[in-house]
Amino acid sequence: MEGKKEIVLSGIRPTGFVHLGNYFGAIRNWVNMQTEFDCYFCVVDWHSLTTHPDTKELQTNVHRLMSELIGSGLDPEKCVLYIQSDVPEIAELYLYLNMMAYKGELEKTVTFKDKVRMQPDNVNAGLLTYPVLQSADILIHRAVKVPVGKDQEQHIEMTRNFAERFNHRYGDVLSLPYAFNYGSELTKVMSLDGIGKMSKSENQMNTLYLADDDDSIRKKIMKAKTDSGPTEPNSVKPDFIDGLFSLMKIVSKNDVVEKFESDFNNCNIRYGDMKKQLAEDMINFISPIRKRTEDIRKDENYMKRVMKLGAEKARENANITLQTVRNAIGLKYY
Ligand code: TRP
Repeated sequence: MEGKKEIVLSGIRPTGFVHLGNYFGAIRNWVNMQTEFDCYFCVVDWHSLTTHPDTKELQTNVHRLMSELIGSGLDPEKCVLYIQSDVPEIAELYLYLNMMAYKGELEKTVTFKDKVRMQPDNVNAGLLTYPVLQSADILIHRAVKVPVGKDQEQHIEMTRNFAERFNHRYGDVLSLPYAFNYGSELTKVMSLDGIGKMSKSENQMNTLYLADDDDSIRKKIMKAKTDSGPTEPNSVKPDFIDGLFSLMKIVSKNDVVEKFESDFNNCNIRYGDMKKQLAEDMINFISPIRKRTEDIRKDENYMKRVMKLGAEKARENANITLQTVRNAIGLKYY
């Protein structure tokens, strides 16, 4: 019965603290997909080496991310939650897929060009073949749905191309994956200054992290830029105010949002009150996740068990694909 469900795979890099943008842009969707699909979620530590060669904090980052994913609602019993480097099968498939990827197309990839600009002194081959490794992540599990944001769609298209070339050459063994999102349900989380989305590269003061304690949440929100308010009824909101409203829509009750909307439209909004309310609602949202996460991370035995279980389940499924791939290529000598 499990096997009848469509296979889903997604990955997340262990390169920093999980913020609200990650949560609403990705993790919450993963949590919703767990029950409906056969889900694999992967902490992609090998990918992080392409941009973060210093591994001093890698272990801490991986442990924290694992606990944050579980604290956010991923259930290691319902999905396969694992660490990429625990599954050597991925590396072997990556090797075969490298022969399906052309240098020219890799060099033209948008994310590659961005990273070359960001780290001109470390344009390593791992960076160039990043989409090939990502393809191996996906194809090794025969995933057909890959929940990712817009910026990753090119990688999924490349994955289909590599898989099609492989199938064309060696026989129909790899499943073709498609980027998946819940469409309009994908919530954009604006940065606290209203300029762009919350992201890893943003200023920490403008980003809310799942690990933020109540005081930091309060401080960040109370510091957010406002002005003296509209003077004309039903004005268009400036970006920084619109950003605060959009955060409020995510964590506050409808009637609360409506009250401040109508205060804004009637030109009697008090931004101090609005931010206080937003801060408390945000704390009510984030702090249970933070507390669950901390409890999980402290329980070293549980963490170990979860990581081992995930690795076993992921390897078992990966091996099925890898055997077919080896046979298809003809790597069989005795
Ligand atoms: N490249 C993705 C990112 O930067 C992370 C990732 C690695 C991934 N492997 C994946 C996403 C496989 C989806 C499927 O966010």
